[in-house]
Amino acid sequence: MANITFSSPIMDKDVTVYAVAGDKGTLLAIAKAHAIPIPCQCQDGECGSCLIKVTFLGNARPKAMALTDKEKLTLSVNGKLSRALLEKAEVEDLPPPYRLACQYIVRDEDILVEFSGEAGVEIDLRR
Ligand code: FES
Repeated sequence: MANITFSSPIMDKDVTVYAVAGDKGTLLAIAKAHAIPIPCQCQDGECGSCLIKVTFLGNARPKAMALTDKEKLTLSVNGKLSRALLEKAEVEDLPPPYRLACQYIVRDEDILVEFSGEAGVEIDLRR
């Protein structure tokens, strides 16, 4: 079970939803079910329009989470997954900050999901 807080400049306020880990498909599916307007085009890990920034809340170490090959490629091509971040993900099981909502499977941990509202455009990290 997880609390997922969505935050974006295009939303009037942050929205927190409660999700059962693993049984609701992707983060994008959960967002759609709650009318959270994350941009999405291909919904298949190829276009990068559903770019999100994920922050793990709480003090626990983020759970290991394998990136799909599509997600690795699309994030890399869009400059959101450096070699160092990829190595951390694969060797140390530390997930990178930028993800694709259509490829992200929710785990049993509370997260903050930020998105710009523009397809493939990153959220301003200085917030
Ligand atoms: S919607 Fe295209 S990569 Fe997620």
